[in-house]
Formats: sequence, structure tokens, C-alpha cells
Amino acid sequence: MTVNDQNRFQAIISHAKEYGFVFPSSEIYDGLSAVYDYGPWGSELKKNIRESWWNAMTRMHDNIVGIDAAIFMHPTTWKASGHVDNFSDPMIDNKDSKKRYRVDHLIEGAAEELSKSGKQQEADDLLRQMDEGLAANDFTELKNLIDRNGIKCSVSNTCNWTDVRQFNLMFSTQLGSVAEDANEIYLRPETAQGIFVNFLNVQKTARMKIPFGIAQVGKAFRNEIVARQFIFRMREFEQMEMQYFIRPGSQKEWYEYWKTERMKWHTAMGIPSENYRFHDHVKLAHYADAAVDIEYAFPIGWKEVEGIHSRTDFDLKNHQQFSGKKQQYFDPEVNQSHVPYVIETSIGLDRMFLLVLCHAYQEEKWTKEDGNEDSRVVLKIPPAIAPIKLAVLPLLKKEGLPEIAREIMASCRNEFYCFYEEKDTIGKRYRRMDALGTPFCVTVDHQTKEDRTVTIRYRDTMKQERISMEGLAAFIRSKF
Ligand code: GAP
Repeated sequence: MTVNDQNRFQAIISHAKEYGFVFPSSEIYDGLSAVYDYGPWGSELKKNIRESWWNAMTRMHDNIVGIDAAIFMHPTTWKASGHVDNFSDPMIDNKDSKKRYRVDHLIEGAAEELSKSGKQQEADDLLRQMDEGLAANDFTELKNLIDRNGIKCSVSNTCNWTDVRQFNLMFSTQLGSVAEDANEIYLRPETAQGIFVNFLNVQKTARMKIPFGIAQVGKAFRNEIVARQFIFRMREFEQMEMQYFIRPGSQKEWYEYWKTERMKWHTAMGIPSENYRFHDHVKLAHYADAAVDIEYAFPIGWKEVEGIHSRTDFDLKNHQQFSGKKQQYFDPEVNQSHVPYVIETSIGLDRMFLLVLCHAYQEEKWTKEDGNEDSRVVLKIPPAIAPIKLAVLPLLKKEGLPEIAREIMASCRNEFYCFYEEKDTIGKRYRRMDALGTPFCVTVDHQTKEDRTVTIRYRDTMKQERISMEGLAAFIRSKF
């Protein structure tokens, strides 16, 4: 796959809209920036990714259970978690265009331009100096770096910058119907806090012993300033997070364990490992003593899809202090109570969805036996998470073929998502199923009436073979 391929990225965005995967939110009103809706095939694909993660984390581990906490939480939660004081990004405004940039994105963009024009050493130096500035929270140095390198605003093309300032990313709203009674609350910027505040509820009711994990999938909200790149950076998105509660002192060992486990999940999806890499954090979040990103080679460059964070006892200790309620675990093995340490794995569901689309999207061209050119756009989505697993296509709309096709639908739809289609030529129907990422199509023709066999066509190779209608569901299932 080509990294930094804007054309390819644009083609994927258009394809996602045209084929019912992702639409801009409230599009009839011209959309809402960085907010998106999932269409029929998008919501199915998203559900399948969510389920894959959920099953891998909960069902496949005896010591991990799930919860589903509310989006609204007591406002003190966010004081305790540090988000009120620390959940902000250094930003800079261009005085001429009034456009606001995240400082790291602005500098990374400039480094990318240097790299494209063959000045790799200068690009690396720029990024290194940025990392140092960010790690030291040195806003003056970051501003100087932008000035020294003559970094321009892409709208005004000027270097007329404000100072670098912090900008909090949490959305707030009011609880209560009467303004005077109103209480400011936040839309959660991460799902993790719903897990932390329920740590003892879960530990006691599910009878968990350390080490154990709590998993959760749910919406999170961030007022992202630089909200572009489609569903890569959204203002409303879904996170799949797991907090693993461990004995203090064992965090290094569990951190390494979860790095390996999570990478295994990614590659078990069928996505090549060479498209992934680890990237250690230079500037650690306010709660972490070690952190690493799992990055993927998106068409827009290497980007984070998942974070693994060693969060120490930061969150539980703070909740203990702010709530006045003990957040301790009695460890019978060492006969001692302690506030557990936590390793967190946190992946964006929408970002994983984008990753799958970027991996799957292929434009293919070939020469046919008659010498003519042919082409197709195909989504090679791993079959296990494909929105539609099987398309059932009667060759004609008459002569008893739809009835047999409906019989196949009835025998398979309980097992996995099937799609019935009788409109258009068979060639057109195959192309449409390729574009939706359907791994298997079966065609019912006149021979089916005689010997109850159908033609199965494989999406990736376009090969076809005749197989028996009987046991079709089990045959398809065996392929994923
Ligand atoms: N609880 C830790 C946490 O929230 P994070 O690195 O800020 O850590 C974790 O976020 C993951 O959530 C990211 O790796 C990314 O996949 C996803 N994510 C974060 N912000 C996002 C956004 N604005 N749009 C889409 N996904 C986002």
C-alpha cells in the first residue's frame, strides 16, 4: 500500500458514501464538521468489528468482564481524572485567516513537505525539536520553532501567528431543565472513567481477583479543533477500552503482555503485520508512566489506531481522594490492601473501521481472454467482518429460479447476513457485491433445478465453481 496517497484516500471516502458505508451527518443541511453517520453496510461492518473486539477481550479471557456505563458522569469525575485541568492541546491561531491549528499537526505538516522535497534530515530535525518542545510543555520554544522555520498558514499563506495556548477538548452541557438549577456536566471524552468509578462494583459482583480486566465499548466526545481526515478524527466517536487492574510493581510485565496481545488481534483480522508498527510516546498523557501507539500505514501516513497506556494508580487514587471512598483491593496472596495499577488498551472503533476500509479498498484492472480491458473496485474486507457474507442471485426473475434462491436465503440467513438480489445482469450484480465487500455470491440457474447445485463465486479471485446447495451454510461458514 502507498503511504501518503491523498487520491486513494479521497477515492475511499467517495466509495464509502456511494455504497452506503458512511455519510456526512445531517447532510441535507450541508453536514456538521467532523460528525458522520454510518449507513446500512457501514453500521453492519462497524458492528462486526465491535463484536470481534468484544469477544476477543471478554469471552476469550476468563478474567475480563464487560460493562456499559452512562455517557454522563458526575462532574467531579473529570476533576479527579485530570481532564478539567489537563485535557487540552497546544493550539495556535493565524491572525490573518483566523484559522486555528493544533501545534503538532502544523509542524508535522511542514515536516511532511520538507520530506517530500527531499530534505529528510531537516524534516527529522524539525520533528525532533517539536517532540522536545512538547515533552517540556515549552510553548515559547514551539512558537519560536514555527517562526524559525517560516511555517505558513495554508489559508492566508502568512506567518502571522498568535502565541501558543492550551485549549480544553471537553464538550459541556447543562443538567436540569431550569437554567437556574443547571449544573455543568461534560460529555465523556473517554469511556475509561466509567470503568474506574465502577472498579469496586465490578470486582465485588463479578468476584474478580487481581489481575482482572473490565472492558467497555461506547461513545466519547471531543471538541477537536483540527477535525479533518474523514472519520479519522471525529467530534463524536466510539471507543473500545479495557482497563486491566494489576498488582503495583507488575506494570512493565503486563504492559508488554498487552502490547503483544493487541497486535495479535490486529493481525488475526487478516491485516498484514508490515502495515503496523509501534510508536512510543515522547510526551506522556497526564495519567501515564509509559505509553505506546499501534500505528497503521493509512494512505494519509502512519497514524495511531490504538493506544496502550500504563496508567499507574493515577485514576483510582484520585477518585479515592475526590470521593472520599476507598478504592482498594485486598490481595489475599500478599495479605495486603492496595490501590491497583492499571494497564489500559484503548482503540477507536471508527478509526479501526477506517483502517479496514483502507486495507480493503482495491482498484483492479486486467485484460480479458478476448483482449478487452476490464476493471473493478473491490473491498477485500476479511470475510469474518464483511457486512454481507453471502449474496444469493437468481439468474432470471422467473422460471422458478427466485423460489430456489429464496429457499437458500431461508436456510442461510439465520447463520449470517445474506443479501438477495434479482435486478440487473449477473455481471453487474457481481460488481456491486465486490464494491460492498461481499466475499461469496451464489447464482441459481436452470441446472440448479435439475441437480440442486449452484455456482459459487469468490470475491477475491473471481473464480467460480459448482457446489451442492445442500450444506451451503456450513460450507460458507467454514470459509471464515
Ligand atoms: N482512555 C485513553 C484514551 O482515550 P486516546 O489515545 O486519547 O486515549 C484512544 O484515545 C483511541 O481513541 C485512539 O487511539 C483513537 O483510535 C481513538 N480516538 C481518539 N480521539 C479520536 C477522535 N477524535 N476521533 C476518532 N477516534 C479517536
